[in-house]
Amino acid sequence: MKYYTLDQLSTLNKNSRKLARFAVIGNPVEHSLSPQLHQPALDDLGREARYVRVEVKANQVGKAFQELHSAGIHGINVTVPHKLEALEACDLVDPVAQIMGAVNTIVFDKDGSCNGFNTDGPGFARAIREEFSVDLGDLKVIIIGAGGGAGRAIATQCAIENCPQVILANRTLEKLHPMKEQLSKLIGSENLKGPRDRIEIIDLFNPALEEAIGSSELIINTTSVGLKATDPSPFPSHWVEPHHLVYDTIYNPERTRLLRDSRDQGARVANGLSLLIHQGALSLEYWLNQDIPLELMREGVKNALKE
Ligand code: ATR
Repeated sequence: MKYYTLDQLSTLNKNSRKLARFAVIGNPVEHSLSPQLHQPALDDLGREARYVRVEVKANQVGKAFQELHSAGIHGINVTVPHKLEALEACDLVDPVAQIMGAVNTIVFDKDGSCNGFNTDGPGFARAIREEFSVDLGDLKVIIIGAGGGAGRAIATQCAIENCPQVILANRTLEKLHPMKEQLSKLIGSENLKGPRDRIEIIDLFNPALEEAIGSSELIINTTSVGLKATDPSPFPSHWVEPHHLVYDTIYNPERTRLLRDSRDQGARVANGLSLLIHQGALSLEYWLNQDIPLELMREGVKNALKE
């Protein structure tokens, strides 16, 4: 079964030896890699549990939570386009997820009430430590595409980690004004030495972007530019210098134009696979409260990407 619809939930555990206990909801959801990510870890941990995909239409997220809980589901991941609707449908939302404006992990209480969390931000911090052996909070960062869902979660995490500099760049500048205001409340108030504010916003097409990139240590792409193999880099990649760390949240294709060019410029680069794995592992930690076999998750996704 590639995915279930809400109407098919009664068949969820019919004739199945291993009961469906965890689910990802989205629309479309058919291509979600979450089962390939989570199932190897569940199996290794000896949980007799299946991880399934469930297609949920807009305005049905609250209903889906209730029906999935009644069907015996213990935990839910939420993917596009439902992360905001999920936040609104929760009984309790973690304050950090509230600021990120998105929920991607649902934990049920015994009575079926829904607690919402966001593991994208904390997963990103773990991904940076894994990829570059450095703490996110020690880096001057620039987020290209900070107005999108992933960009917002990552920018919030950077503020929480108290990064010395957070530059938010986006094609649509208006999206960044309220974000700057909100994140300024989270980040340390002291201005560090230098000409820049702790949090700045910039239009993607402002010529000052070159200088903003030059003054950063970690460049993060959270735009969707690069998803197609023929896509260009989201900004002129000859601006990348050898001192930069470059993280592209895209993992398929494995090497975007930005990552290829940045490597040619002498920078250290990483793709979004580590973010995918760590945000998933954090969800499992919420549900199972035990250490998670990360390498099996990585192997599961890598195999799925090869198919
Ligand atoms: P979401 O993540 O909220 O679903 P999205 O449409 O996937 O949003 O876009 C994610 C990010 O990619 C946004 O920052 C978006 O910029 P806008 O806020 O200006 O829409 C950015 N983005 C998408 N296409 C882009 C392009 N061709 N050039 C630059 N940025 C782009």
